[in-house]
Amino acid sequence: MSRVRREDRGGRTVLLTPNFAAGRRVYNEELVLRDGTEYRTWDPFRSKLAAAILKGLPDDVVGEGARVLYLGASTGTTASHVSDIVGGRGLVIGVELSPRVAREFVENVARQRANVIPYVVDARDPSKYRVSEVDVVYCDVAQPDQTELALENCRAMLRPGGDLLLVVKARSIDVLKEPEKVFEEERRKLERAGFEIRAVVDLTPFDKGHALIWGRSPGRGPVSGGGQGSRGSSPTTSSSSWSTPEGASPLRARP
Ligand SMILES: C[S@@+](CC[C@H](N)C(=O)[O-])C[C@H]1O[C@@H](n2cnc3c(N)ncnc32)[C@H](O)[C@@H]1O
Repeated sequence: MSRVRREDRGGRTVLLTPNFAAGRRVYNEELVLRDGTEYRTWDPFRSKLAAAILKGLPDDVVGEGARVLYLGASTGTTASHVSDIVGGRGLVIGVELSPRVAREFVENVARQRANVIPYVVDARDPSKYRVSEVDVVYCDVAQPDQTELALENCRAMLRPGGDLLLVVKARSIDVLKEPEKVFEEERRKLERAGFEIRAVVDLTPFDKGHALIWGRSPGRGPVSGGGQGSRGSSPTTSSSSWSTPEGASPLRARP
C-alpha cells in the first residue's frame, strides 16, 4: 500500500507523507495530524518527485521498506519525503557533490532521520559510496551527462528488476533542442542499456522543461511473491541480459 496520502483541498490535490522525524520540518511544509499520524505536505513546486506523482507516476514506485540510492540530494527536500515513504525498514543513501548545500542536508535531514545516510562526494564515482544492492536509483543532478551517470550507478548498485527514476532537465543537456527531443534521446539511451521504459512524465506546469523517466532494469527472471523485493517480475523484464548504451558503460546483471 502506498504511504503517500492524497487530499482534496478545494479541487486541488495535496500530497502528504507520514513524518519520519515527528515534529520537525525540512522546508516550509505544513505538519498535519491525520488518523493519529503526523504528515508533511509535499510541495510539487519544490520536489520533482511530487510533481511526477501528481502528473501520473504511480505513487508506490518507491514503497515502504525500499532501499533508495538518491543522487543529487541537494538540501534534502525530496530526499526527506523519500525517507518518510520508505520508513524504518527502508534506507535512503543520499549523494551530494556541493558541500554548501550538503551541510543543510546533513544537519536538517540525515541527523534527524536514522534511515538516511549522507555522502558528500561526486556521484560519478560510485566506488566512494558503494553499498549493497538498492531497489531504486533516483537521479536528479541536472548535468549534461546525467543519464550516463545514472546508468553507471545502476550498474554498480541497482538490483535486477529495480527501478530507475531519472529527472531530465532539458536545458542542462542542450539549450537549443526542444525539450521533447531531449527527453526522447535520453529515453532511448536507457532503452539501449536494457531498461524497460515504464513512463516518461513531463513535469509541466510544476517544472517547465523537465521530465521524469521511469525505467525498470532487466530482471533475473520471473519472480513470484509480493513486496518491494519482487518487483522485477514484469513479463517484459524477465531477460537477464544487459546491452551497451552509446556513451555509457555496459550494464551487467550482478550474480
Ligand atoms: C536539481 S538539484 C537536486 C534537487 C533535489 N533532488 C530535490 O528535489 O530536493 C541538483 C543537485 O545535484 C547536485 N550535483 C550535481 N552534480 C553532481 C554530482 N556529480 N554528484 C553529486 N551531486 C551532484 C548539485 O550540487 C545539486 O545540489
